[in-house]
Amino acid sequence: MQAVGVIPSKKEVGVLEHSNPEIRHDDVVRVRCLEVGICGTDREICTFVYGQPPEGSEYLILGHESLGEVIDVGSAVKNIKVGDLVVPSVRRPCEHQDCQPCRAGLQDFCATGDFVERGIKARHGYMTEEYSEHEQFLYVAPKNLRDVAVLVEPLTIAEKAMAQVWLAQQRLPWVKNNPQGTPRGKGLKAVVLGAGPIGILGAMKMVSEGFDTYVYSRSRKPNPKAALVEAVGAKYISALDHTVDELVEMVGNIDLVYEAIGVSSVAYDVLRVLGNNGAFVFTGIPAPKPPIEVDADLIMRNVVLKNQVIIGSVNADAAAFEAALADLDVFVRRWPETIRAVITGRFSIDDCQSLLLDKAQGIKNVVSFT
Ligand code: BGC
Ligand code: ZN
Repeated sequence: MQAVGVIPSKKEVGVLEHSNPEIRHDDVVRVRCLEVGICGTDREICTFVYGQPPEGSEYLILGHESLGEVIDVGSAVKNIKVGDLVVPSVRRPCEHQDCQPCRAGLQDFCATGDFVERGIKARHGYMTEEYSEHEQFLYVAPKNLRDVAVLVEPLTIAEKAMAQVWLAQQRLPWVKNNPQGTPRGKGLKAVVLGAGPIGILGAMKMVSEGFDTYVYSRSRKPNPKAALVEAVGAKYISALDHTVDELVEMVGNIDLVYEAIGVSSVAYDVLRVLGNNGAFVFTGIPAPKPPIEVDADLIMRNVVLKNQVIIGSVNADAAAFEAALADLDVFVRRWPETIRAVITGRFSIDDCQSLLLDKAQGIKNVVSFT
């Protein structure tokens, strides 16, 4: 069957022939691919600075943001049936018996580094007509989310990050003790860095958590990304029009920064203006570049004198997938047109080379197999 992959040894990207998955365990589910999102990680793998084929394979099938339909289930599969819509997670545990996070099902915190990631590190991805996967790594999406559920995986990045932020901010009793029913972010200010899919979905998450939310991104208004974030009630501020010092004047005390830009110069400039008791969460994975200058003393002073927390967050656990499915359902009801508008293009696999290699266009582009 046809699949989209990279051959690092030959520096090739494109459609290739890949063998059909077979059910080899009773708990395995066979899935027909419906849609796969393309993200910065895929594009980076196509520059051959990231990503790794499975052992013994010359190629790596891409794709980790997936929505599929179940076409077959093994005899021991309990909660998934033929016809269900499913979203798979990305990371699989390492095999070391003493890796406590992996043994506890928290491979997003793998302590050995020997985890694998489908479509990224040593395991084929989902940009293929069919794939198979153990039931435990699949999440059933309700049918009303058919046209947006390909966004679940990128939304899990915000879900895990926010879960981490709230764990850290348990140290602030006045935040922790919000009256029942009040969104946790009420009265707090969040700045999202970047208005790509991760930033836009993050902004939706922050707005729905009650934060007064600002998105700081490059392009000047009006532009489609600014229109989307303003449609959900966030404010869009262009970095071309306003410096970081102007940003903080407009926002006030910044309680939370959700970095979804992957540009360290901007991220560290904003870290400089994080507010009292604020949390800064990094999600971007920049490619290695020469060192840059940062105001390190000022940042260090602030981190201490303002009781700040800096969190790195990668990948997502089961709880984040469940939360993303629940939140996507909330977004679809609250902002039906806006959430759908995050997906700006659906393409056939024949377009994959230009989607992966040319300058990024639109917001979220999706390869459709139907
Ligand atoms: C994926 C994560 C993954 C990370 C690092 C991201 O694009 O969404 O699941 O852990 O890349 O490989
Ligand atoms: Zn991704």
